[in-house]
Amino acid sequence: MHDFGFKRGRLYCENVSVASLARKHGSPLYVYSHATLTRNFEQLDDALSPIKHLVCYSPKANSNLGVLRTLANAGSGFDIVSGGELQRVIAAGGDPKKCIFAGVGKTEEEIELALKKGIYSFNVESEPELVRINKVARRLKKKAPIAVRVNPNVDAKTHAKITTGTYDNKFGIAFEEIEGVYERAAKLKHLHLRGIQMHIGSQLTEVAPFEKAVRKVAPLAKRLAEKHGFEFFSIGGGVGIVYEPALESGDANWWRSPKRKKLLTPAKYAAKLLPLLQPLGLRILIEPGRFIAGNAGILITRVEYVKRTGVKNFVIVDAAMNDLARPALYDSYHEIVPLTQKAGDHLKRNQISSDVVGPICESGDYFCKKRMLPKVGEGDYLALLSAGAYGFVMASNYNTRALAAEVLVKGNRAEVVRKRQSLKQLWAGESVPKWLQ
Ligand code: LLP
Repeated sequence: MHDFGFKRGRLYCENVSVASLARKHGSPLYVYSHATLTRNFEQLDDALSPIKHLVCYSPKANSNLGVLRTLANAGSGFDIVSGGELQRVIAAGGDPKKCIFAGVGKTEEEIELALKKGIYSFNVESEPELVRINKVARRLKKKAPIAVRVNPNVDAKTHAKITTGTYDNKFGIAFEEIEGVYERAAKLKHLHLRGIQMHIGSQLTEVAPFEKAVRKVAPLAKRLAEKHGFEFFSIGGGVGIVYEPALESGDANWWRSPKRKKLLTPAKYAAKLLPLLQPLGLRILIEPGRFIAGNAGILITRVEYVKRTGVKNFVIVDAAMNDLARPALYDSYHEIVPLTQKAGDHLKRNQISSDVVGPICESGDYFCKKRMLPKVGEGDYLALLSAGAYGFVMASNYNTRALAAEVLVKGNRAEVVRKRQSLKQLWAGESVPKWLQ
């Protein structure tokens, strides 16, 4: 469910007309809904309410300060992956004591920062990392809270580039080796063995792989918890969302559509997993990114040209793969709708097979291929839906294109939460060597 919908033929985010935002702030423009972010968080939080738990939002999905503050206010913890993300969470008003720190390549500086800020736990991905964390903690005369990330070798059945829980991936430590690793970790005096963690992949649309992984790891977690006095078990993120179709043209109430029933809901997720988790008596952590932010954001773009080649109808827009990389990287689907509907847009005879493409000089710079879309022309605005997660955060300056602006909407209020980058900022840190001048 989300808070983007058509009223009298115009797309709204909550009570704000999206076209008015585009006119005021220009395009490309990311627009986020406060209500959707909060509701998605609460749905997961409520689903886990029968047990001790903490929802740790993954800022890697969307780390805008306005988004982070929205979630901190809702009571969220954070699943960070860099010193930068920790600083962002703190800058947004998040609590470091509710932060867990994942990632295979933590530097000494990052470990030191996290220890000084007092994070809840490091999620450790290798033995050399355990040794390094122990060394930094000794230097700071502290005890570092850690959990080891277990790789359960369960196929998440999602896109190859976002599968993480099999032995083909660089993540975690193999299931069979975990007990030995904890034995050795227990001998390192500056570590506090606080829990165990896993994460099998992203954009899972079925509960079965989660269930399989939890069934496999829960007995191990129980044995280790008894031995080492753990507090928590983090079962990772990965709850998927519906990208297709998120919002059907002409259907302002898409979420009542029967198609939505296929969604992996927090209720379904909890119904299968809670009976397995509850007996452990541990605090259960989850690390959702996409479920919270994905359908809470859209990317607005303006049509620059329509180019008909005889073979194709290219709709050339002002956003590109540098703004939203997911279609180019993963061939992923984002629903595309005009901000203003014309009567009969939903009729096939008023639609045309279109390739929506950006201005970047690569054939991979497209948002969709051969998709039936209402006919649009120069100056029309389009929205790419479900772009709230892994959208802006993966943007780049490729082709010397400035990063888009971001707006957060709450009710009838809208505020720019990140200004559009100025072109000068792009080369502000560069210089021409003296010997070339
Ligand atoms: N925890 C860990 C350890 C992770 O690696 C990830 C995501 C998450 C939690 C959050 O997963 P989520 O709930 O968002 O599925 N750029 C890709 C997704 C990469 C996911 C990386 N790890 C995409 O656009 O689909």
